[in-house]
Amino acid sequence: MARNPGNKVVLGLQWGDEGKGKVIDVLAHHSEVVVRCQGGANAGHTVVVGGRKTVLHLLPSGVLHEHAVCVIGNGVVIDPVALGQELDDLLSGGCDPTHRLKISDRAHLVLPCHRAIDAAQEIAKGAGKVGTTLRGIGPCYTDKAARHGLRCGELADWDAFGARLRERHVAANAQLVALGSPPLDIEAEIARIMPALRRLAPLVADTAAFLHQSVGTGKQFLFEGAQGVMLDIDYGTYPFVTSSNTGIGGVITGSGLSHKQLGEVIGVVKAYTTRVGSGPFVVELDNARGEALRQRGREFGATTGRPRRCGWLDLVAVQFACRLNGVDSIALTKLDILTGEPEIPVCVAYELDGRRIDTVPARLEDLARVKAVYQILPGWTEALGSCRTFEALPKAARDYIRMIETTLRVPVRWIGTGPGRDETVVIP
Ligand code: GDP
Ligand code: IMO
Ligand code: MG
Repeated sequence: MARNPGNKVVLGLQWGDEGKGKVIDVLAHHSEVVVRCQGGANAGHTVVVGGRKTVLHLLPSGVLHEHAVCVIGNGVVIDPVALGQELDDLLSGGCDPTHRLKISDRAHLVLPCHRAIDAAQEIAKGAGKVGTTLRGIGPCYTDKAARHGLRCGELADWDAFGARLRERHVAANAQLVALGSPPLDIEAEIARIMPALRRLAPLVADTAAFLHQSVGTGKQFLFEGAQGVMLDIDYGTYPFVTSSNTGIGGVITGSGLSHKQLGEVIGVVKAYTTRVGSGPFVVELDNARGEALRQRGREFGATTGRPRRCGWLDLVAVQFACRLNGVDSIALTKLDILTGEPEIPVCVAYELDGRRIDTVPARLEDLARVKAVYQILPGWTEALGSCRTFEALPKAARDYIRMIETTLRVPVRWIGTGPGRDETVVIP
């Protein structure tokens, strides 16, 4: 396989919701194949075109570009009902991507029992709950790792599939009862998901083989990460994480392409930090300034509607994410939301028991004691929405960007100045 530097990987470098959907939509202009590699309908990727907002959960965010083939790779966990709903929403807006959508035969299916177990586990954890999206993600990946999950390819034999589906739900019901939750009405649940499974079946393909063929014909790929590096099952704030590898490793194992095909790695970084769900959050602003950021940034979950926790930019976490993933360039989003802040603190180091550290500790107990060391930068008052070049940005905003580049030693190449496709400054 020849290397293709034109391919691009887009990864979230914080706790998700960095604005990956918008960045993918902008970049998909020049890409022929857009690939999701991990996660599932826990993702909520927002694309705003001509004032119209579309939130994508399972479909790649390049879907609004008529020329883009969309691939849902083997690392994604697929809820057939959620996918059907998403296709219907697109259809109602006049977009039908089914003829250019391919779903991996190796991708695991999120079943009704996975959603039920997700909810039951959260209830059983009480105050220690993860704050999951309740989309059945963890239980589905658990079944995959335990080697008794159901994959899309099995839809080729409906009788055998039906038998396995029942078998899984019988076992899941025992688990639900053990967790103190009511069992599912198995036949009713199967009847409910069957139409969605029948709709999904014709889209199933050997996507790895398709991608290998596309490499052969010189197609340009765009790999769309979901969640963010700090939610990664290995390197995130475990156990307050999602259940997949959200970084570069997940792109390889979840697509079937090798490292030689990855091209440029673009890290998406929000100009401040947000996180949904439980878990340590060193830079959290649990006060009026955090509330002001939440309101100005409209920081409410694209999937669950939950208020996002807000804080200043945490460059220790972002640098950690850059190192882990070989990030080549940064797309800095939502810079416009910082307009009006008189001064902007940026976390440049952590202090743990009086010692300064520049990496993210693995132990939750350590992370809980970490204090942020801030560098204070001057703010700006000008609205950024109409800026289209780096030079047009106010000096304090340019200094903010330069400080991020200097600290990370990674260039900022895209700057978000609003939610719309056009509200982007590209630095050549
Ligand atoms: P994703 O999960 O990483 O795709 O991000 P989400 O879609 O969950 O959340 C990002 C939110 O910020 C969405 O509402 C986007 O429309 C919005 N957004 C993205 N980039 C910008 C930006 O540069 N400025 C502003 N104001 N909003 C943005
Ligand atoms: P996008 O792709 C933000 C969070 C949940 C929870 C934890 C585990 O839109 O950036 P899960 O349902 O995955 O088992 O939940 O991970 N989480 C996200 N937070 N953005 C996401 O996706 C997320 N996907 C999962 O809030 O804390
Ligand atoms: Mg999101």
